[in-house]
Amino acid sequence: MRMYEAIGGDGDPTLPGHPDPYPHYAQLRQERPVHWNEAVGGWLLCRYADAETFLHQHDKVSRAAYIDTLAAKHGDGPILRAQRRELAFMDPPSHHRLRHLLGKAFTPHAIESMRPHIERIVDKLLDRVAGHGAMDVIADLAYPLPSVVVSEMLGIPEADRARLQDWVDGLVRSRGVVRTPAMIEAGNRSTEAFTAYLHGLVPRRAASPGTDLLSALIAAEEGGERMTEGQIVGVAQTLFAAGHATTRNVIGNGLLALLRHPVAHERLRAESALIGPAIEEMLRYDSPTQSTSPFVVTETFAIGGQVVEAGQSVSILLGAVNRDAAQFPDAQEFDLARTPNAHLAFSTGMHVCLGASLARLEAQIAIQRLVQRMPKLALKDGTLEWQANGRFRGLKALPVTF
Ligand code: HEM
Repeated sequence: MRMYEAIGGDGDPTLPGHPDPYPHYAQLRQERPVHWNEAVGGWLLCRYADAETFLHQHDKVSRAAYIDTLAAKHGDGPILRAQRRELAFMDPPSHHRLRHLLGKAFTPHAIESMRPHIERIVDKLLDRVAGHGAMDVIADLAYPLPSVVVSEMLGIPEADRARLQDWVDGLVRSRGVVRTPAMIEAGNRSTEAFTAYLHGLVPRRAASPGTDLLSALIAAEEGGERMTEGQIVGVAQTLFAAGHATTRNVIGNGLLALLRHPVAHERLRAESALIGPAIEEMLRYDSPTQSTSPFVVTETFAIGGQVVEAGQSVSILLGAVNRDAAQFPDAQEFDLARTPNAHLAFSTGMHVCLGASLARLEAQIAIQRLVQRMPKLALKDGTLEWQANGRFRGLKALPVTF
């Protein structure tokens, strides 16, 4: 198997880190819409219609079986034990139970009530750089924002957040479509430290509850049963692992697209009501999560003219699907007000993103505030570098002047 560090650059454009995978995706949609990727060790779907169909075949796929295949390949360990407790890697009925329980914290109404609070966090981050005339949008805004928001949602004490950040980075890096022994070892270390920290926090929160989500989960009862400490720790890890790199990347990739399209930039400055559709287009045009995690197929079936055997894995190349001209007119164009825009950046079906409302709100506030507060916002000259990270597409840094 190729080394993770070598992914991207001149490597396979379907793996994270490539500066511009989109011409390659266009070729794949045309010539090999369902194809086997050796580095991933599974099938990749590239067309919108196939993705839509596949993602609703709930009775023919398993995520728990995917974790079992990883355990058989690499040996079990802290990362896989943690993943087994995460929604994205659970099958029904345990998936539905946990999703139902968490759903209450993530309704659009519950998330909308967080707006003034997120606005304050964004303004505080921007105040820090306001006098400088230049900033790195990733380091100064997109990176800290989602972790501060999830930390506050869960009630993680402020003094602990810096440590937490390192662990979350380790966790995210170890979850790639391609996993090397070095990545697994580093990921195991981060996961163990993070798990131990959360096991220390839950009893303290149980003894003195607050108004945060962790306290609500400790108190929650479902059919007369309470969640175990291990399950609560799993939820906290899920929210950090799933909500961090993704939200960072929609802010980074989205702002980059906007600054590369000055007419759209100017339009958004003049018409702030366009922020909703603008974020949807940013999610579609340069999707933060380029691929879903693999699903293991539990019975042989055909998709897009290709037979997939039971036991094989299938992932959706969301970055390719979201540029499919069969679904999106002028799919390669960045159209700020695109309607309709039924992109799959949050996936669809049973494992559709739980945090989509929160991600949308954070991205809308971050981009809106940047555009409004910094009327001369522009890209700084220089080469942009992309992270070879997990299943994500995101910049290492996004230097701008304002
Ligand atoms: C722009 C930001 C985001 C994007 C693009 C995104 C994208 C996705 C995608 C594509 C999936 C499906 C993954 C798969 O099937 O392998 C997913 C699942 C999930 N996301 Fe997000 N996400 C974002 C932000 C968030 C946030 C902020 C949270 C919570 C704090 C979150 C929580 C989750 C959870 C818990 C799942 C698993 C759902 C399940 O399996 O039932 N996400 N997300």
